[in-house]
Amino acid sequence: MNCSIQTLPGIRNIVQEAIMEIEDNFTGYSLDKFCIPKHYEEDLDHVLIPYGLIQDRIERLARDIVQEFGNKPIVALCVLKGGYKFFSDLLDKIQLLNRNSTESIPICIDFIRLKSYEDDQSTGQIKVIGGDNLNNLSGKNVLIVEDIIDTGGTMKKLLQLLEAYKPKSIRVASLLVKRTSRSNGVKADYAGFEIPDRFVVGYALDFNEYFRDLSHICVINDKGQKKYASKKD
Ligand code: HPA
Ligand code: MG
Repeated sequence: MNCSIQTLPGIRNIVQEAIMEIEDNFTGYSLDKFCIPKHYEEDLDHVLIPYGLIQDRIERLARDIVQEFGNKPIVALCVLKGGYKFFSDLLDKIQLLNRNSTESIPICIDFIRLKSYEDDQSTGQIKVIGGDNLNNLSGKNVLIVEDIIDTGGTMKKLLQLLEAYKPKSIRVASLLVKRTSRSNGVKADYAGFEIPDRFVVGYALDFNEYFRDLSHICVINDKGQKKYASKKD
């Protein structure tokens, strides 16, 4: 793995391919082995990634990021809303390393709020519906922190949007990357888990704004999809 930031004069230059794969035939963990909020018990098929495993994997991503950046400052850009838990846990773990090492990464934080999904489908349009002034990113090493790369459509558009603000470099950290034939090939530099092509919720990932209040990453079932379907008339 080449982890030298000196190699990134350009905007993107994937440095990390190591990812933890969850195979298509993995049936997950049954719900009754975990604590699931009562209001979601009937709406989920199984636990795909328990909260503890999410934390352990993020700890390693934090270490990889610190190794790459050394003591170079970054702007960590949280993609709301789905990225907020990953962002918070990742930054906590980077800060822990910062406190305990001879090198440390100075971090500024920024937020951008995007919306593109309705039910389990991308609407094909990403809307920027809030966030900081993106001019702050000019000349900076930007680390985008996102919950999931699914088809890659949202990330592709976000990268195009940010490049216009001329950051010094852009890296992408995505907790999840979906293995799907619909992928446009956009990759993450730091990726937590590669997951099967199922709609997942929990750990701030939503289905029409529901399930963000669930700690584990779970696969939603048909009943859940119907119950929380968007009300189109
Ligand atoms: N779950 C939640 N949000 C998403 C997903 C998913 O599987 N794919 C794209 N946005
Ligand atoms: Mg979402």
